[in-house]
Amino acid sequence: MTNDKQSPLEDGSLFALVNCSQLVTLAGANRPRVGAEMRELAIVHDGAMLIRGGKIEAVGSLKEIEARLTRGAQIIDAERRVVTPGFVDAHTHLVFAANRADEFEMRCSGITYQEIARQGGGIRSTVRRTRAATKSELLAIAQKHAFWFLRAGTTTIEAKSGYGLSVEAEMKILRVVQEAGKITPLRCVPTFLGAHEVPEEFLGRTGAYVELVIEEMLPTVAAHKLARFCDVFCEPHIFDQAAAGRILEAARRLGFGLRIHADQFSCSGGAMLAATLGTATADHLEHTDAASIAALAAAAVQPVLLPGSVYSIGSRHYPDARAMIDAGLAVVLATDFNPGSSPIAAMPVVLSLACTQMKMTPAETITAATINAACSLNLAGQVGSLEAGKYADVVVHEASDYREIPYFLGTQRPAMVFAQGERVV
Ligand code: NIG
Ligand code: FE
Repeated sequence: MTNDKQSPLEDGSLFALVNCSQLVTLAGANRPRVGAEMRELAIVHDGAMLIRGGKIEAVGSLKEIEARLTRGAQIIDAERRVVTPGFVDAHTHLVFAANRADEFEMRCSGITYQEIARQGGGIRSTVRRTRAATKSELLAIAQKHAFWFLRAGTTTIEAKSGYGLSVEAEMKILRVVQEAGKITPLRCVPTFLGAHEVPEEFLGRTGAYVELVIEEMLPTVAAHKLARFCDVFCEPHIFDQAAAGRILEAARRLGFGLRIHADQFSCSGGAMLAATLGTATADHLEHTDAASIAALAAAAVQPVLLPGSVYSIGSRHYPDARAMIDAGLAVVLATDFNPGSSPIAAMPVVLSLACTQMKMTPAETITAATINAACSLNLAGQVGSLEAGKYADVVVHEASDYREIPYFLGTQRPAMVFAQGERVV
């Protein structure tokens, strides 16, 4: 179930990136960083790096890199800017038709996200439009979204299906994810989210829909190798703990990694289920209690926190990131990019919200958005830090100190983005 990219630079082309005021490498063990480790960024001051054939060959001081330069190698000057790994966004809903700016306006006038969903809007309204769209229409939209991620410094995303809710429509979306990962420079890790909502034709028959997910959708997606992970939206009135557990167990038997939308609107056993199953991640966790946090820590489940969706639905109920870090959890930050609860593709905005609303330090947010996110996708051997042997997914920020990335909210734009050594921004 891979979606590996071909490097456009496999010819062995060589270049050096020099004059980096702070080269934020995050070098260290290829495992999730916890506790105080989340604040250790392994910064090389006045650093440089050597890139060959789309991969990092060496990282060090300018002197060290200069000594390895061969005649004729291209030199790119970072002009005393901060350089970090490309962001890894471990929770997105990349593919959907149309947006929901109409619902945004309704929320601005006081109607809540949940009320809109109860009236037939929300996820179901995007499902109607995504079902009606052709594969090539969806691919054009996905390409547009892919460049929104790239220009904000994200080079890898996890991309969920979940706006199809039928065998054919879910397969259509996953094929678009696969295609987007091939034709754009954005690395896309596909996740099957057939249990995102109960579709209209199954209203009042959730059990029958769960059977369809388990008996037909999961085996078909597995047979076509179209997803690495399976996710479920676990909430009492959508897929409760028992239904979510059955779907995830079936997915595990078929070889999928597991993720779960847990405790977004209520502390309803989603995180506890994640701990019991030992899922890779538990995402959202806005309402997770102390006992569930302890259970996640004991099971080494990674929390994926999505402050952009809390902000966008106008809630103030952010997840308790400090308690999670104190409990030793390897926190991940992601956008949750989707047309309803989080129309945000820019990781720097999420980092800023995590600092101001969840009291994470700037260093912790960078770890959560790079190496920890890569670990949650089983990609830590390839991306998430600037170390020899990894892909040259590199961002040169319009800043001279990494703390400016979350600090200049909405203003921070990368000056250069490289995906596998290819300059894409
Ligand atoms: O992660 N909670 C469920 N899914 C999305 C929202 C999707 C939508 O509103 O279209 C989320 O917030
Ligand atoms: Fe989501």
